[in-house]
Amino acid sequence: MSRRGLVAGNWKMNGLTGAADTLVGGILKGLEQRKGKNICEVLVCPPFTAIQAVGKKIAGSAVKLGGQNMSEHKPGAHTGEITGQMLTDIGCTYVILGHSERRSMYGEDSQLVARKMVAAYRDGLTPIVCIGETLQERESGKTLDVIRDQVSAIFPNLPADEAKRQQLVLAYEPVWAIGTGKTATPEQAQEVHAFIRKMLVDQLGNDTASKVRILYGGSVKPDNAAIIFSKPDVDGGLIGGAALKAEDFLGIIDGFQG
Ligand code: 13P
Repeated sequence: MSRRGLVAGNWKMNGLTGAADTLVGGILKGLEQRKGKNICEVLVCPPFTAIQAVGKKIAGSAVKLGGQNMSEHKPGAHTGEITGQMLTDIGCTYVILGHSERRSMYGEDSQLVARKMVAAYRDGLTPIVCIGETLQERESGKTLDVIRDQVSAIFPNLPADEAKRQQLVLAYEPVWAIGTGKTATPEQAQEVHAFIRKMLVDQLGNDTASKVRILYGGSVKPDNAAIIFSKPDVDGGLIGGAALKAEDFLGIIDGFQG
């Protein structure tokens, strides 16, 4: 595969400083034990309050740091919001955008997500744009329509710069699989990932489309990671619950080893 695998931990709204320290310590220890092995890229996205401390702890390691959300706006009067620059300032290189929890609980639509993507690129971050259908949408046969709409919204807002386009990461997270223990079958994941890849080819051309990574998220665990990651258009995982236990997160990272 020409794309490097990426396993990203989305800690969501979990982790006081002590727990965050213990968790990242466990991840670093496990990665140290895997030194010399051909492992995938590893990213952790702690809650805002723990990012700086986690960043200090992972300094000098291969683990990357990301935010879970950011504002579309430039610095100014936006109480409770943070800019992408604030994330890069404390060592983040990635930001998750448009997670289904933000779409469903905080009213983020695809247009807002696209504007946030512009801001993320502007501020030097690699966006991880989340997409995915609800159970109702899947059961009424609308999965690919929903995915088409969500992915189409970002194309007009992509930067012209080819290298930046190639950095883009998409995360397919079927809403019905998030935190439910119900994982998409590897075939269901591959079907949607292949559909997204085809859209990328049509819009951005073969070269860029072959570089963009598409992650799967939704109840990924150590015992199902390898089979999901074995699918040709699945380039890694966006992990929720299992990213909160070092042993489980490491087990998922191991899913990438040959
Ligand atoms: P779970 O792994 O807990 O299902 O969460 C997935 C997710 O939402 C990651 O962003």
